[in-house]
Amino acid sequence: MTETRVPVELKIAAQAAGIALEAGALIRGFFERGVATEYKGDVDLVTEADRASERLITERLSATWPAHGIFGEEGARQRMEGEYRWYVDPLDGTTNFAHGFPVFCVSLGLERRLQGQAEDEDGELVAGVIYDPTRDELFAAEAGRGAWLNGRRVRTSSTKMLAEALLATGFPSRKRHANPNVHFYQEFTLRSHGVRRAGSAALDLAYTACGRLDGFWEINLNPWDTAAGALLVLEAGGSMSTFEGGPFHLSSREVLATNGLLRREVSGLFADMLAGKDLSPIPTPREFAEARQQR
Ligand code: IPD
Ligand code: CA
Ligand code: CA
Repeated sequence: MTETRVPVELKIAAQAAGIALEAGALIRGFFERGVATEYKGDVDLVTEADRASERLITERLSATWPAHGIFGEEGARQRMEGEYRWYVDPLDGTTNFAHGFPVFCVSLGLERRLQGQAEDEDGELVAGVIYDPTRDELFAAEAGRGAWLNGRRVRTSSTKMLAEALLATGFPSRKRHANPNVHFYQEFTLRSHGVRRAGSAALDLAYTACGRLDGFWEINLNPWDTAAGALLVLEAGGSMSTFEGGPFHLSSREVLATNGLLRREVSGLFADMLAGKDLSPIPTPREFAEARQQR
């Protein structure tokens, strides 16, 4: 089944796709049956589906590539000294999943690391697979071999101006009060066709890769959220950077993905905002209430 969805020359991604499809079917089953939700923190949710998916992925990756390391969101840490390391998000979009909102996926990204490389230094991204089990969409990429969706080559969009762009962002479930993203959200919403907050960073990146979105940004993502999606965006012709256009790393606390054509304009706007330039004015709730009374 994966042969028709991932070209044979993407050998690693094709095998990883089989694992992602299996994990996707597992979480879809939990989704259909319903599953209890627990709190990892504040509003950070986890379910039995997250854990079961990570167990399955860890077993399958270890059986397929016994020397590869694994770094999973739900705690899997295996062979961390290895040359290759899989970043595993067994269920990206858990809040959606827990509420019955059908936007979530499995994300597997492979990094190749140099011998003795410090933990805070990145290696190179080698392969990535993202599977959305509710739409049955399989995104796959390998370094130098392009980005693919269900067996078809995908490329980033050709949108040239922010004013004509559809963007996405996300908000963290931890330390929400320390996150200024709502300000960026305001400004980009007023200057584009709109900003979506669908609730799965990996799918936001996959959608940027295939041109459904023109760009995506978020603060405080983790490597399991971004490893596969970043490679998809790059292989599809897009750009990955920090907000002001600096180099992207898996450990970056800021992620900006664009179709490449918008990078300069979007980074410029971030730079202006971060330098304290005033945001476009909008009425405060109080002003809105007063104006309403005068109507
Ligand atoms: C979350 C999703 C969400 C993003 C959060 C992530 P999780 O991942 O990707 O879109 O805004 O920052 O933590 O917890 O559902 O795997
Ligand atoms: Ca997750
Ligand atoms: Ca995630």
